[in-house]
Amino acid sequence: MPPGERSEQLQATRTVTIDRYRPEDRPAIEALYRRVFGPDAQEASRLRWEWQYRRNPNTPLDGPQIWVAKDDARIVGQYASMPVRLWVQGGEIPASWGMDVMVAPERQRQGLGEALFHTWDRNTGASLGMGLSDASYRLFQKLRWQDVGPLPCLVKPLTRRAFRRPQWSTAANRFVSWLTLPFVRIVGRARPLVAQPEPFRRFDTSFTRLWERVAGRFEVAVKRDATYLNWKFSEPPAIRYLMAAVRAGNDTRGYVVYRHIQEPRGRVTLLVDVLADPEDADVVQSLLAWVDREARANDSDKIRTFAMHAGFRKLMRRAGYFQVKSTLQFTIKINALAVAADFFQHTDRWHFTLGDSDQDR
Ligand SMILES: CC(C)(COP(=O)(O)OP(=O)(O)OC[C@H]1O[C@@H](n2cnc3c(N)ncnc32)[C@H](O)[C@@H]1OP(=O)(O)O)[C@@H](O)C(=O)NCCC(=O)NCCS
Repeated sequence: MPPGERSEQLQATRTVTIDRYRPEDRPAIEALYRRVFGPDAQEASRLRWEWQYRRNPNTPLDGPQIWVAKDDARIVGQYASMPVRLWVQGGEIPASWGMDVMVAPERQRQGLGEALFHTWDRNTGASLGMGLSDASYRLFQKLRWQDVGPLPCLVKPLTRRAFRRPQWSTAANRFVSWLTLPFVRIVGRARPLVAQPEPFRRFDTSFTRLWERVAGRFEVAVKRDATYLNWKFSEPPAIRYLMAAVRAGNDTRGYVVYRHIQEPRGRVTLLVDVLADPEDADVVQSLLAWVDREARANDSDKIRTFAMHAGFRKLMRRAGYFQVKSTLQFTIKINALAVAADFFQHTDRWHFTLGDSDQDR
């Protein structure tokens, strides 16, 4: 629904309308964001807003796909989205990740969230949600989006500090470190590189060709062409990603995107995104071995990643990763085409990572 077009009258709350975002809404949305998510989250959102919503190469010409709920002129809710191209069963459809959804605290549980979700969903070929709050997860369930999550989480321990937990005492953490040391020495050992990855800063057209070559290996995945990848991983204003790729002449056979972070109980290397033919074990294993070396050089205690594709997970387990409990919820609804009844039960060839949506921020 373009700006200025007919607003939608809600049944549940008679005076509330839902409209597309207009630039003049921005200060009120920022104020609401601060109230709902807190000042730190609002500041972080402000820093990435232009990049996230305006500079996304899939943002339509008429502006960001954000909907606002207004009670007369007062903004009482928002649904923002990140449009992407979704590869589904051998073709492409427009889709979008839902994010930064919020309703003013005094207006929650009155049906506004539901109306915002429906407005977003009516305007996209597939609506995707990842990493949800309890309230939004329940709302997705109530509205019968398919629950295909959580996105599997895998961890590779590199030092005995890898098993520390902030909620455990120092003595308990020391004991677990001692107990797990022999195990860490085995799974964390360095492995040889078969192919030699190289670091890079920007994705050239060889990455688009890589996507075109490997897309057929996936049943569902966000289209990863060079334009999308540069926006997502080379250009975000507040995060600096590291990237490495295996090249073969003018072609690229695979890449990894990663970064190092400090958590309360140690340093973690996040393996954020990977793309290669999942059957090209030499390339995937060399990329994983590269991330190992980088993680060690940065003194990380572990590597953490999220991967849905069974082929990548198998190679990760072979490289010393093991699957741990994940809380990264993932829901999906496909509107643009009909899919078989059991489509959502077989997700082994779906390729989703922490690099999808705006989970890593
Ligand atoms: C998520 C949010 C936008 C939902 O908006 P809302 O207007 O309260 O949602 P609705 O009134 O349409 O709720 C519909 C359903 O959502 C679920 N739900 C909403 N809030 C819930 C809560 N706090 N706990 C459990 N379930 C909840 C329920 O299933 C509810 O149905 P019910 O009222 O019949 O039980 C709102 O709770 C919010 O702004 N939360 C804080 C910010 C947030 O968590 N954003 C999501 C980030 S991923």
